[in-house]
Amino acid sequence: MLLLGKTFPDFSANTTEGEINFHEWLGDKWGILFSHPSDFTPVCTTELARVLVLLPEFVKRNTKVIGLSCDSVSSHLEWCKDIKSFAGCNEDEPFPYPIIEDEKRELANKLGMIDNDELDHKGMPLTARAVFIVDPNKKFRLSILYPATTGRNFDEILRILDSLQLTDKAKVATPVDWKAGDDCMVLPTVPEDQIKTCFPQGVNVVPLPSGKNYLRKTACPKI
Ligand code: BEZ
Repeated sequence: MLLLGKTFPDFSANTTEGEINFHEWLGDKWGILFSHPSDFTPVCTTELARVLVLLPEFVKRNTKVIGLSCDSVSSHLEWCKDIKSFAGCNEDEPFPYPIIEDEKRELANKLGMIDNDELDHKGMPLTARAVFIVDPNKKFRLSILYPATTGRNFDEILRILDSLQLTDKAKVATPVDWKAGDDCMVLPTVPEDQIKTCFPQGVNVVPLPSGKNYLRKTACPKI
């Protein structure tokens, strides 16, 4: 079972960019591994196209992306043409991120990415829409698992990356619907006597009926 905070399992895989070793491929970057039920399916095509359009945003966040779909590399390479076309990208440009082949669902099984509710035409369970975020220390930092029938929101995944990267550096947590630059919450573990040193920008304690001063807002720290 994959556990947040533990080292993300390393693996070797064949991809549209050749054989990779996952940890080596990540190098010193953040990584996002996202899986798909199969090639040439409508929702998957929209998702991979969205990642293509958002790629500069992932690069800005020092993050590499890699897809997985339970078909072969030759099928992925054909499919990439559709994805580029749907994304409105130049079809002569190379596809800019790798897609892992997983015809036998070996990796999808190993990483717990299977959706037992969605079967392919042979009655085999499909790969779910998983999102795994791994940090530069190869630590597993976030997991989201969607069924095959629900497409993901990759703007939300960028928002998550902003939160993870901020909260790694500052003693804050990001509240509901937070976006980069919005006010943050002081971590409950920061004692009162450290507030001034940790948050020179000031802290606003929101009064609540309990009288407990736990909801402490501060401007988004510059990191
Ligand atoms: C799709 O990508 O459109 C899809 C794939 C498998 C099941 C349902 C939808």
